[in-house]
Amino acid sequence: MTKIAPSILSADFSKLGEEIKNVEKGGADYIHVDVMDGHFVPNITIGPLVVEAIKPVTDLPLDVHLMIQNPDAYISAFAEAGASIITIHQEAAVHLHRSIQQIKDHGAKAGVVINPATPVEMLLPILEEVDLVLIMTVNPGFGGQSFINSMVGKIEQLAKWRQDKNLSFEIEVDGGVNVHTARKCAQAGADVLVAGSAIFNRSNRHEAIREIREAAER
Ligand code: DX5
Ligand code: ZN
Repeated sequence: MTKIAPSILSADFSKLGEEIKNVEKGGADYIHVDVMDGHFVPNITIGPLVVEAIKPVTDLPLDVHLMIQNPDAYISAFAEAGASIITIHQEAAVHLHRSIQQIKDHGAKAGVVINPATPVEMLLPILEEVDLVLIMTVNPGFGGQSFINSMVGKIEQLAKWRQDKNLSFEIEVDGGVNVHTARKCAQAGADVLVAGSAIFNRSNRHEAIREIREAAER
């Protein structure tokens, strides 16, 4: 079954705990936490303190997406705060294998992510080391942007490499995922769909999650 990871970026931050409990009840699989530093992306969001605060609120894995420069400096803080999966940008990591190893040394699952302008081949040297690969289908920084269709080929290529190389990393897709775009992601080989605005801009989040999952599996 396709996993759904609601991105709390589009949640009501004045009642974040309730928002998370609500999507957990609604069938979410991961809680996607978007960390932005105002340097790697043109927006600032949350840090380890918020991750620590929401950790006791949910039993779901916290899927922490670091859109920050120099991720090495913050991996331990996010791991200690309770991140279950820590995903870093290939573009921000100078020594990617070392950073991925650092995440694993802290007991978290390690993910790598690429921006839309980065060729998927950039991931080839690291595929055997990661638990998750995230394909950005928007340029990171904000919720509510439009899905970039030409990214679907990257998902297909990754799924093919995974099979050819007999690997088992999860393929996650982030940006512009909704009932219209979920199907092509899943069909291309995505296992986990991140959705922010398509879930939190709806009053009934349970229905939103169910509709996205149904669309993915249709
Ligand atoms: C984009 C973030 C996404 C974002 C997705 O910079 O990494 O996780 O919250 O939001 P939607 O689903 O609204 O595109
Ligand atoms: Zn994200």
